[in-house]
Amino acid sequence: MNKQIHPARRWRAEPGASLSGSAVVPGDKSLSHRAFILGAMAEGETIVRGVAESEDVLRTVDAVRALGSEVERSGAEWRIAGHPWRSPDRPIDCGNSGTSARLLMGAVAGRPVAANFTGDGSLRRRPMERLTKPLRAMGARIDGGDHLPLSIAGGRLKGLRHVSATASAQVKSAILLAGLGAQGPIELVEPMPSRDHTERMLPLFGVEVESGRCAEGRLASLGRERWLRGTEISIAADPSSASFPLVAALLVPGSAVGVPNVLANPLRTGLFETLLEMGADLRFERRRTVCNEPVADLSAGTSRLRGAVVPAERAPSMIDEYPILAIAAAFAEGETAMHGLAELRFKESDRLATLAAGLAVCGVEARIEGDSLIVRGCGGPPPGGAEVETHGDHRIAMAFLVLGLGARVPVTVDRPEMIATSFPGFSPLMRALGARIGAAG
Ligand code: S3P
Repeated sequence: MNKQIHPARRWRAEPGASLSGSAVVPGDKSLSHRAFILGAMAEGETIVRGVAESEDVLRTVDAVRALGSEVERSGAEWRIAGHPWRSPDRPIDCGNSGTSARLLMGAVAGRPVAANFTGDGSLRRRPMERLTKPLRAMGARIDGGDHLPLSIAGGRLKGLRHVSATASAQVKSAILLAGLGAQGPIELVEPMPSRDHTERMLPLFGVEVESGRCAEGRLASLGRERWLRGTEISIAADPSSASFPLVAALLVPGSAVGVPNVLANPLRTGLFETLLEMGADLRFERRRTVCNEPVADLSAGTSRLRGAVVPAERAPSMIDEYPILAIAAAFAEGETAMHGLAELRFKESDRLATLAAGLAVCGVEARIEGDSLIVRGCGGPPPGGAEVETHGDHRIAMAFLVLGLGARVPVTVDRPEMIATSFPGFSPLMRALGARIGAAG
C-alpha cells in the first residue's frame, strides 16, 4: 500500500503564489476498479494502462488476487489473468473504499464462492442495504445488516428488475456484476442517470448492456451473452482529481493550468458545466473517444466567478465534486445554491456537515437547508486562517487546501494522509504548479 512512513499530522496551504503548467493527473478511479474486477472475471488476460494507483484501487487489486486472479504490474501496464474465483481465506478489507466494497460484493454474489467483507471506520458506517436487498432478491446468501462487516455466499442467481431509490452507480454496477452469474433478465432502473462506466466497459469484454429511458427513470439491462473475454483498456485521467488543480487555477490570481487526457464522460462533468455557468475560463480541447469513453484536454485560467443555482438533477454527474464546488462558491460573487445533496451524507464523511463546518471556520457563510447547501460567496479571497477538520475525508482535505491557496490567510487540514486513498501524488503535483502546500507539523 502507498503509505507514507512518517505522515505529517497536518498540512498547510499558503496563498500568494500563482499556479502554472501542465498537470498529469492519475487515471480515473472508477474505471480502474472496474477494469480490475472485470479483468478478474474474464477468461484470458486483460491489460490495463493508466491505472489510478491509489490506496482505494490497490484494495481492489488485493481483493481480486485473494479471489484467485493473478495481477502483475509491468512498467506502465497492469496485467490481470482471470481464473475461476475461489473463496478467500481472510476477510476482504476494503479500507476506505466504498467502490471496492460494493462492486466486489456484487461480483462475489454471482460466483460460487463465499467471502467476508470489512473496511475502516468510515466504510463500516456507510449504508449497504441498498445493495444487499437486491442481491438477496437475486438469491445471494448474505449475513449481516445494513453495514460492514458482512459475509456473502454467492452462486447461480435469478434474474431481477430492481428499481433503485437513489441514482447510485455503485448499486447499479453491483447488480450488473452479480447479473453476470445469473439466469434470466437483469434490469436496473434508477431515478436519474448515474455514471455509466460499467455499461461502457462491459462491451469491451464482449458483454452488451442496453441503456435507455423508461417510465420510472433510466434503465440498464444486461445482454444475454454474459461470458467475459480478456481485453485491453486505456484509462484517462480522473476528472474528480483533475478538478483540484483546475479549480485552484480559477481561484488563484495569475494562474493558467492544463490537464491533458481527462475523462469527459457527460455523467462525470457536472462540476465543469457548473463552473462554466459561473463564468469560469475553462476549456475542453481535442475531444475524442478512448475505450468507449469521451476524453478531452482541459485548461483553466484565473476567473471572476459568480454564484449559481445547481439543480438536483445534476447531482449524480458531480456527486464527488461538491467539496471543490463549495470552495469555488466561497470565492464567487453572490450566493451559490446546491440542491439535492442527500447522498452527500453517506460519503467518506457526512460531506454536507463537514463542508458547512469547514467553510464556517474559514470565515465563509454557509447554511444547510434540507438537502441543499447555500454558500454566500466572498466576491474574492475568503478569510481562511483556520484549521479544518476533514473527518478523514480525502476530498474535504484537498478542497480546503485549494481554499488555502487563494485565501487571505493560510489554511491547515488534519489527517492529510487520507488523500492517498484517491490521489497519492496530490501535493507534489500541486507544488510543481507553484502551490505552497506542505507539512504544518
Ligand atoms: C462511484 C460512484 C459514486 C461515487 C464514488 C464512485 C463508482 O458513488 O461517489 O466515488 O465508481 O461507481 P454512489 O454510487 O454511492 O453514488
